[in-house]
Amino acid sequence: MLVSAKEMLNKAKAGKYAVGQFNINNLEWTKAILLTAQENNSPVILGVSEGAGKYMCGYNTVVGMVNGMLETLKITVPVALHLDHGSYEGALACIDAGFSSIMFDGSHYPIEENIEKTKELIRIAGEKGISVEAEVGAIGGEEDGVVGGGEVADPAECKMIADLGVDMLAAGIGNIHGKYPANWTGLNFDVLAKIQELTGTMPLVLHGGTGIPADMIKTAISLGVSKINVNTECQLAFAAATREYVEAGKDLQGKGFDPRKLLAPGFEAIKATVKEKMELFGSIDKA
Ligand code: G3H
Ligand code: ZN
Repeated sequence: MLVSAKEMLNKAKAGKYAVGQFNINNLEWTKAILLTAQENNSPVILGVSEGAGKYMCGYNTVVGMVNGMLETLKITVPVALHLDHGSYEGALACIDAGFSSIMFDGSHYPIEENIEKTKELIRIAGEKGISVEAEVGAIGGEEDGVVGGGEVADPAECKMIADLGVDMLAAGIGNIHGKYPANWTGLNFDVLAKIQELTGTMPLVLHGGTGIPADMIKTAISLGVSKINVNTECQLAFAAATREYVEAGKDLQGKGFDPRKLLAPGFEAIKATVKEKMELFGSIDKA
């Protein structure tokens, strides 16, 4: 059964580790992430962007696929199904469809409007025990059509949003979606420390987890980050493994063109990437 992200993240915050949110795109992605979580006894969050939701034929289809897999794969670790960078309307649709967690990305609204919409979603989601993530500041770069200017969050605004009763808070601290450019100056730990000081036990979320060096990940966790989002890194691993298979001509040998064979190296590459992240985040054996 899907669970809200609230309890697993409060546990992670208290235990000084982070739970990975890994974005899904299709059956292979979902199965690879769920199996890796189960094999490593780790809680996990499946992230679904609005674009990926459309690609997978809508939120009802996603919920049906995930719930089906939880049963047939006998997944017993805590799993949350989470809308990633959702609009207000998208959040409502996911609440209706049976998601167990939503992110409302109101960072592009003036703070007053962000507050109003966040409050309303907290009320609606709360009635169903669904957890809510809000964003302050903006994550740089682009993910699935969501473009952020990379503004560093104002700690006072973070406190204001945290006090509304969200379950987790994403703050822009110099993190970027996609690959980090060579001239990236790193995460702003002074701002993160201030946010953590003002928001206390609130689990903090680090987006743009792809390519952040291990030492920065560790420092971020020590400063209250309890959820780390990874998307691009799984895509890169999947693409590289698939390319290697095709370039080696394996799709032309025997029944190598069978999609169940063609997609297998990419599937294994996602599993390896997710396991590596779970080790780095410290969530193994924390289910
Ligand atoms: O919301 C999802 C993430 O922030 C993923 O970022 O693609 O850079 O790993 P990433
Ligand atoms: Zn993100």
